Amino acid sequence: MNVLSLISTKGGAGKTTVAANLGGVLADSGLRVLLLDLDSQPTLSSYYALRESREAGSYELIAQRLTVPEQVISATVIQHLDLILSNDRAGHISPLLLHAPDGRLRLRNLLPAFQDRYDVLIVDTQGARSIVVEMAILASDCALCPVPPEMLAARELRRGTLGLFEELEPYRYLGIVLPSVKLLLNQVNANRRDTRLIMQSLRASFQSDPHVSVCTTVIPDRVAYPNAASLGLPVHRVEPTPPPGSRSPCAAEVMRALAIELFPQWTAQLLVSGAQVPGQLSATERRLIRRG
Ligand SMILES: Nc1ncnc2c1ncn2[C@@H]1O[C@H](COP(=O)(O)OP(=O)(O)O)[C@@H](O)[C@H]1O
Ligand SMILES: [Mg+2]
Repeated sequence: MNVLSLISTKGGAGKTTVAANLGGVLADSGLRVLLLDLDSQPTLSSYYALRESREAGSYELIAQRLTVPEQVISATVIQHLDLILSNDRAGHISPLLLHAPDGRLRLRNLLPAFQDRYDVLIVDTQGARSIVVEMAILASDCALCPVPPEMLAARELRRGTLGLFEELEPYRYLGIVLPSVKLLLNQVNANRRDTRLIMQSLRASFQSDPHVSVCTTVIPDRVAYPNAASLGLPVHRVEPTPPPGSRSPCAAEVMRALAIELFPQWTAQLLVSGAQVPGQLSATERRLIRRG
C-alpha cells in the first residue's frame, strides 16, 4: 500500500480537491483506494456521497486505535473508493497525541491494518501546522504539496510547509524514512506572465534539492474542479475531453498524468481506463498504449 498525504500549511491551496480527484481517477482505474480525512473541517468527507456510512471515523481511528474496517471505513458511491470520515470537530486528537508516547507515530503504527486491503491510502490534512499534520507526514511515502502560483503562496511555502518538514528531520535518527516532498502547481493560468515567472523560479530553486521536487504535471485553473465538487463526482468524469476551443489539457488528462507521475507502476491501468471513453486519450497517451 502506497501512502500519499496532501500537505500545505496554507488553506485553499487545493489539498482536498487533489485528494478527492486523484482518489477518483485511481479508483476508476480499478485500484483500491482509501481516503483518510484528517482535517477537522470535514470537506473531503462530504465530497462524495456515501453508499455505506459508518459512525466511527478519524477520531476512533487515531484516539482509540480502532481499525476494524466494518466499524471505521465508509464506502463512497464510487466503486473501489472508501473513506475514513473526519469526526474530530472539537479538535480532541491534537492534545491527545501531544501527551501520547507514540504521538506523531500513531498513524504510521496503525497502517499494517489496511496494508492488504488497499493499493493506496490518500490522507487529506488541515491547512495549518499541527501535530496531526506531522503525524500524517511521518506515515507517508510521499507528501504532495499543492501550491498556487502566487508570490505570497510561494513565500508561505518556504516558511510554513517546508519548515514543517525540516523540523521532522530528527526522526531520521530513529530510522524513519521521511517522505519525498513533491510540489504541485495548482490553479495555474499559463497566460499570465507573473505565473510563468513564479513557476520557473520554483523549478530553479528546487532543481538540486535532494528531498523536494516540483511535479512535471501542473493543474490549470478550471471551473471543472468546483463543478465536479458540486456534483460530487471525480473531475475526470465531468471533463473527460477538452471543451471546444480549449488549448490546455482537459481535467481527465491532467489527473491521469498526475496519477501516472506519482504512481508510474500503474500506468497501464490508468491508460486503459482512459481509453474506454471515446476521444478521452490524448495523442501522446494513445502512442504510449500502442507501444505497450
Ligand atoms: N485547479 C483548480 N481550478 C479551479 N478551482 C480550484 C482548483 N483547485 C482547487 N480549486 C478550488 O479552490 C477552492 C479551495 O480548494 P481546496 O481543495 O478546498 O483547498 P484546501 O483543501 O487546500 O483548503 C475550492 O473551492 C476548489 O474547488
Ligand atoms: Mg481542504
